[in-house]
Amino acid sequence: MTKRVSKRTVAYFAAVAATAVAQMTMPVAAQQAGGDQAQIDLGKRTYAQNCSHCHGPNMVNSGTITPDLRTFPDDRMRFVTTVKQGKNGKMPPWGDILSEDQIADIWAFVASRRNP
Ligand code: HEC
Repeated sequence: MTKRVSKRTVAYFAAVAATAVAQMTMPVAAQQAGGDQAQIDLGKRTYAQNCSHCHGPNMVNSGTITPDLRTFPDDRMRFVTTVKQGKNGKMPPWGDILSEDQIADIWAFVASRRNP
């Protein structure tokens, strides 16, 4: 009887330890594997809702009336500033509409599609 209880106790602690290890390690692993992709997906959605009617679905456009964002240089500062302030009265300003995070998400999406 004592033996059975102690076996069960050992099994219980083993299960608790395994769960604790899983909880500590899995989110980190998931973040490293999918964190960037998750942000790109968010940016893709925000882009589709706010930018695609001018810059083209999935950034595919002729690059004549609106610039092809796939050729935008690897310059995050310039991107964020342009998106917030707009450009030449033709590109509308987004500073009051999109959050800092949403613009960062779109930048992740733009960077993932870069093809200069
Ligand atoms: C109403 C149409 C329109 C919408 C909507 C629009 N843009 Fe633009 N965008 C333009 C035009 C036109 C230009 C070119 C302005 C110029 O150079 O005179 C431009 C320029 C840009 C540039 C600068 C490119 C460069 O080479 O300097 C960036 C970056 C950009 N847009 C990003 C975005 C993002 C991100 C969104 C969505 C949040 C968006 N745009 C929504 C029309 C639009």
